[in-house]
Amino acid sequence: MREKIGQMIQLTGFFFAGSGEETGPAHEMEIPKEVVKNAASILNVVGAGRLKEVQEKYLEENAHKIPLLFMADVIHGYRTILPIPLAQSCSFDPELVKEGAAVAARESAAAGLHVTFSPMADLVRDPRWGRCMESTGEDAYLNGQMARAAVEGYQGASLLDEGTIAACLKHFAAYGGAEGGRDYNSVDISELTLREQYLPAYEEAVKAGTALVMTSFNTINGIPASANRWLNEDILRKQWGFDGVLISDYGAIHELMMHGVAASKEEAGKLAIEAGVDLDMVSPVYGEVLEKLVLDGEVPMELVDRSARRVLELKNRLGLLDAPFRSEKLMEQEAELMHCEAHRASARKLAEESLVLLKNEGILPLRPETMKKNTIALIGPYARSRELYSAWSLFARNEEVTTIEEGLQNAMKDSPEYAGIRLLVEEGCPILDEGEEIVSFRQQLITNDWNERGIDAEEKLTAAVRAAKEADVAILALGEHIQHSGEGACRSQLRLSKAQRELFKAVKAVNPNTVVVLFSGRPLIFPRISAEAGAILQAWRPGTEGGDAVAAVLTGQVNPSGRLSMSFPKAEGQIPVYYNHLRTGRPAVNGTSARFTSTYRDLDGEAAYPFGYGLSYTSFAYGPVKTDKKIYGLEEPMTASATVTNTGERAGYEVVQCYVQDVAGTTARPVRELKGFQKIWLEPGEEKEVSFTITEAQTRIITRSGSCETEPGTFRIFIGKDSRAEGAYAEVEKR
Ligand code: BGC
Repeated sequence: MREKIGQMIQLTGFFFAGSGEETGPAHEMEIPKEVVKNAASILNVVGAGRLKEVQEKYLEENAHKIPLLFMADVIHGYRTILPIPLAQSCSFDPELVKEGAAVAARESAAAGLHVTFSPMADLVRDPRWGRCMESTGEDAYLNGQMARAAVEGYQGASLLDEGTIAACLKHFAAYGGAEGGRDYNSVDISELTLREQYLPAYEEAVKAGTALVMTSFNTINGIPASANRWLNEDILRKQWGFDGVLISDYGAIHELMMHGVAASKEEAGKLAIEAGVDLDMVSPVYGEVLEKLVLDGEVPMELVDRSARRVLELKNRLGLLDAPFRSEKLMEQEAELMHCEAHRASARKLAEESLVLLKNEGILPLRPETMKKNTIALIGPYARSRELYSAWSLFARNEEVTTIEEGLQNAMKDSPEYAGIRLLVEEGCPILDEGEEIVSFRQQLITNDWNERGIDAEEKLTAAVRAAKEADVAILALGEHIQHSGEGACRSQLRLSKAQRELFKAVKAVNPNTVVVLFSGRPLIFPRISAEAGAILQAWRPGTEGGDAVAAVLTGQVNPSGRLSMSFPKAEGQIPVYYNHLRTGRPAVNGTSARFTSTYRDLDGEAAYPFGYGLSYTSFAYGPVKTDKKIYGLEEPMTASATVTNTGERAGYEVVQCYVQDVAGTTARPVRELKGFQKIWLEPGEEKEVSFTITEAQTRIITRSGSCETEPGTFRIFIGKDSRAEGAYAEVEKR
């Protein structure tokens, strides 16, 4: 029995390799030696050589020679760092996201890993939550498409193929709904919202074949996910047919005691195994109490057999039972693949397509031919920063990141129009204000250290203003600190630091042509910049190739095509602000503050920049929405189309978005919901007819009786450029 229980335990690197990344509290573990000797898995230790050593040593002691599973958080790339997932989803390009995941898989597999704790399909409506950077935003359909793409990219056609790794879908379920946007907090949502909004993306990833699922830390309507039979057994396994491994989140089984649903480790262990959790991630519970629970007749042995079998099946699916190192050429592959040219090209393309142009008063792309002073100033703490990845880039190498300065130099060097144009670069101010402190992912205290380093802030600001004055255009590279987002990095204020706001003011005062490039892991709030900057480019955390990608968009080598996957609020007090909210009895009127409507006295309820929004260097016009029929049968799919024309002077991508409003249901319906999107390329003057098929499954709702079905009635179909879906729609009926 101890050997089987061993298969249900994941330990940290400290147990086997002396080190590793930790994301939770260390526990005193009194797990019997024999159980440790048979532990199934280890997390966040990497490197082909190191893992080979650990595996060899482990196998020497393991009676049945069953290899360890190596898992890690490869959230947006292993060494070649892709943009953060929130940015990736702004590409609205599942194929590119899939390719990015395949890049991450090849590098991870070469480093000896078997499983990544990704994708995260948690729907999120609250930008205060630090982990929205790991999500793909606020929309169930987009999240589902992105989660599917990631699973397919990681796992390839078969986990026996070289360069694949198993995906672990997380965090099941509704972790993104944490109250107040505070990590680990309770989730209290109606079953209607849970089933219609939060669950579908996980289901899509399960259908795509994710090999593992991870439970979430939170309670859902009073029951923690790791003790939630309804979620894990009834929905995940029975309804969706998931037959892979369900792993707890880090220490989550132990935390059942902190949640107040278990009074002892025994109770916690019993609850978790009864709720179907197969693998206990770094908690002492299964290792210490499962054996006793079985011997005392509290837990049937079949549950241990069932979970151990699932873990062994996963090892078998990965080919580990036949070949404990999967590939004999790990070291060579590691040397060859890491941050190789092909991977960098994929990461760059994904970064380019994830950038969102929020504002442009004709100042972008840069036009060197009109520059009288032949000078561009690049100013701000992100001008030369290599921290363009995120707190989750555990295996990134700083020196492999291209900065914005280097990116601009590369772009200018390659194009003759920039001959004779100089680039002045000034830091201007630090990212953090004086006295501001952040505890980092690795639990170090980070502060603004300019004083200690003897840097004179006044002088730096003066130099920046001087550069801005001398230049035709000032590009301000501003943003949050890398440690401002990620796990345990929630914020109640979403503004840039005071120093950066002052820098913007000072630069803008001497140069009206000011472009702001924003680096962040979440939607930020920046009313002054919104009102006064000539252009704003949301760059997120774009990864190792971020500098080149940003420069390509600034110089116009690439026409921006990213669209927001999460709404940007105008003020913290508006949160949550998301596009597909339920209609109210007193809807707000065109973003006004009219009394007795659902809005604020001091602000309207509209987002600063809504879901689906993003500008291009060209313009697109939409023709009327046409449908193939006016009346459909209940089970019939609906087909709608519209003609989209590039009415500007540049070729570019447009993300054509299809939204549906169910006019009246037996339960209240959202204003509209995304049901399809297509990213199309149009040459100037070119037009294309874009058509969408909305399946019957896509019009199902949770009805008043609790069933999930399509109800008869009127539907409005919008095809447009963003979630405001302004303009005409087609009205059809389902009977
Ligand atoms: C996080 C998971 C992560 C795990 C392992 C936890 O704290 O919530 O997303 O995969 O740690 O590092």
